[in-house]
Amino acid sequence: MLLKAALFLHVISAIFWVGGMLFLVLVVAPYLMTLTDPADKSKIFQIVGKQFRFWGWVAIVTLLVTGPVILYMLYGIPLSGIFDPELHKTLFGKTLALKLTFVTIIVLSSLFHDFWLGPKARYSRSLSRWARIFGRTNLIIALVIVLCAVLLRLSLT
Ligand code: HEM
Repeated sequence: MLLKAALFLHVISAIFWVGGMLFLVLVVAPYLMTLTDPADKSKIFQIVGKQFRFWGWVAIVTLLVTGPVILYMLYGIPLSGIFDPELHKTLFGKTLALKLTFVTIIVLSSLFHDFWLGPKARYSRSLSRWARIFGRTNLIIALVIVLCAVLLRLSLT
């Protein structure tokens, strides 16, 4: 039961977070470009951004908690085992290491984007440009993590 719940929460959190970033970049941002008043643009992005930031971090924490549970219950690998050099000799171990490297990068980059760059972007055109660059880079990294997750499952076949 715990494994089923962990996998369900893991996949639904990934769907919400990665899907939410796709929606922001492909739907919300192009709509905001059609608005003429920069104040309107920034106000809407700040409100939508803040709302997504809260639920996005709920999803990130859920992924970071359920990931190790799945790793242990599905493959018998405890969290400490992710540093085992023997594991890294296997395709599964290499794929997991790649996934967790990108997870570490995206968590640090999201912390910087969501809690420093994003809120400051409202008052600076250059910070707003950097916020867009970080936002889009995080989306690409999130898509690479999902690809690693699928390759992780296939690495055992
Ligand atoms: C940003 C965070 C993460 C995202 C977006 C993510 C995404 C995903 C997705 C979409 C799957 C389903 C893939 C499938 O079943 O084919 C998955 C499975 C999995 N994830 Fe994650 N994950 C994240 C973090 C983690 C972490 C931190 C760990 C472990 C410490 C982890 C371990 C696993 C494992 C073991 C599976 C099962 C693979 C399988 O089905 O064989 N994930 N992940």
